[in-house]
Amino acid sequence: MNVKAPGAPHLAAKPRMWSFAAGSVALDRKHSVRIAMIGGGYVGLVSGACFADLGVEVAVVEVDPAKLAALADGRIPIYEPGLDRLVADNVAAGRLTFGNDLAAAVAGVDAVFIAVGTPTRRGDGHADVSYVNAAAEQVAKALTGYAVVVTKSTVPVGTGRRIEEIMRRARPDGEFDVASNPEFLREGSAIGDFMRPDRVVIGTDSERAREVLRRIYRPLYLIEAPILFTSLETAELTKYAANSFLAMKVTFINEMADLCERVGADVHDVARGIGLDGRIGRKFLHPGPGFGGSCFPKDTLALMRIAQDWGAPSRLVEATVAVNDARKSGMAARVIAAAGGSIHGKTVAVLGLTFKPETDDMRDAPSVPIVSRLAEQGAAIRAFDPVGMTHAKDMLPDGVTFCADAYDAVTGADVLVLVTEWNEFRALAPARLRELMRGTLVMDLRNVFDPAAMAAAGLEYHGIGRGAGRAG
Ligand SMILES: NC(=O)c1ccc[n+]([C@@H]2O[C@H](COP(=O)([O-])OP(=O)(O)OC[C@H]3O[C@@H](n4cnc5c(N)ncnc54)[C@H](O)[C@@H]3O)[C@@H](O)[C@H]2O)c1
Repeated sequence: MNVKAPGAPHLAAKPRMWSFAAGSVALDRKHSVRIAMIGGGYVGLVSGACFADLGVEVAVVEVDPAKLAALADGRIPIYEPGLDRLVADNVAAGRLTFGNDLAAAVAGVDAVFIAVGTPTRRGDGHADVSYVNAAAEQVAKALTGYAVVVTKSTVPVGTGRRIEEIMRRARPDGEFDVASNPEFLREGSAIGDFMRPDRVVIGTDSERAREVLRRIYRPLYLIEAPILFTSLETAELTKYAANSFLAMKVTFINEMADLCERVGADVHDVARGIGLDGRIGRKFLHPGPGFGGSCFPKDTLALMRIAQDWGAPSRLVEATVAVNDARKSGMAARVIAAAGGSIHGKTVAVLGLTFKPETDDMRDAPSVPIVSRLAEQGAAIRAFDPVGMTHAKDMLPDGVTFCADAYDAVTGADVLVLVTEWNEFRALAPARLRELMRGTLVMDLRNVFDPAAMAAAGLEYHGIGRGAGRAG
């Protein structure tokens, strides 16, 4: 295999599939459904392990030698709560294998799921589908009988049709159908999201493909998870529409938070006041430093480009992208303004680096522009994140001090900036923070602290959207 993949520029190792099962149980291969999962990242690894747990035989194909080495060692290459146990159990049960031999994994399967990355293409904001296309071509060449080729990756409208063409060209005699089955799981609660989804969307023109996917998803059908069968294009667009809508909701409440600060209102009460309306809903109405992560930024940008290309531009999505970018890059200025207009020579403790809690994912995390800008302006940064520091070290500027815990980070700091709302930060004692810090300024970009308790401890507290001129 010589496909280039993020984090895995070259694969020199000989293709092989491992079964790490300690004592594999004999599988009823005649009746079980078999799938290959191409890509063992946040989506491929979680959904592969979940499918295995639902009784499907799963071969995960990954090209990154470091990830494979970790898995071979019984370690999980990403942080996702509960995944270590799920993987170990299913490996032990003989239903889950990992390796880099795509041909071996694909031989004889009922379906091949493609779950490789679709990052933003450099320069134009479109989704880069080159990894998906490369995987589809490899799969076409490796098929040994009929199989459904399913994109789990988030892909632009038209990708499924393009995959059909690529595969047909690579394998004119190949027996296959193409389907789109976008994934809606969230990092941090990925297993629960996969096992008890709000819905499963399956887009395909083929009844035979629908039948295979019905068998694969049967356990979820039995728990009455809604399964929506659509066309390829509808499924592809549904994923972008869902993420863009949620991103828009977050951006809306962020703008309302700014307005609350001006008019002296409380954004949490506004969020509750509108969210209790069932037509609006309470979720995704938490103000903060702007959305980040591996999906919202790239998916809003991609939908914006798709809509422009098809002559139906989405001004709402365009505004969401622009407002969010401005918010993320403006957060450091907010800190600097609160610090009196200059951060030069000051020490800033930054708590939370990942784009959200319960993940080690640093992709497009708001912490990156915040820390970079503060460091550029002459601040010394003392940072702490419960699981994200390994990845953060590659993404944050040199000179950042990575600390042992939150109290270590705030020791001697003039300013505390809370960027990611890990639960353990909620329990920090204001009096102890005051004691350890040199200064008194607390910038709570997620509103996790109690403004009154902070003020009582002698800290100058600034939250988001909690009314100008009052504590918080
Ligand atoms: N991360 C999320 O929360 C999430 C949620 C829903 C949908 N998605 C979508 O799912 C897709 C995957 O996202 P992710 O976060 O899992 O990405 P990721 O970067 O964590 O994982 C992708 C993996 O695919 C591997 N890979 C690339 N080409 C390969 C090939 N030819 N054969 C085998 N492995 C290959 C890479 O080495 C990498 O480990 C993206 O399209 C993303 O938009 C992600």
